[in-house]
Amino acid sequence: MINEISKVAYEPMNQIHENEVKVLNELLEAIENNQNIKEKFELFLDDVKNHFNFEQNLMEKYNFFAKLPHKMEHDRIVRELEEIKRSRLDDIDFLKEYFYKHFIPWLDNHIKTMDTVTAGYFDMINVPTN
Ligand SMILES: [Fe+2]
Ligand SMILES: [Fe+2]
Repeated sequence: MINEISKVAYEPMNQIHENEVKVLNELLEAIENNQNIKEKFELFLDDVKNHFNFEQNLMEKYNFFAKLPHKMEHDRIVRELEEIKRSRLDDIDFLKEYFYKHFIPWLDNHIKTMDTVTAGYFDMINVPTN
């Protein structure tokens, strides 16, 4: 389970991150209990895509200077998750290892670096928050 995530300077991104943690925690619970993993993984992957698209649309619209590397990071993770969905959903040990040792540290680091800089830019140029 994840409890704490870093805040960024653009509130709509915080809301999206909070929701993602909720959906991810439900997936982690499903993995721990070996129950409904496929269903929870689909919900999680959809949520990740919405999360990334939300940021990418704003970066595009407001021409954020680092939109390309930020999008490339998102794309890399989506490809990873698609591959897991395709071939690894039956492997509980792999899933635990992937989420706890790879995805969660990645998300934490991504929010503290790229998302933080991106949100700071949105805040600085007064992107509307509604
Ligand atoms: Fe984000
Ligand atoms: Fe991001």
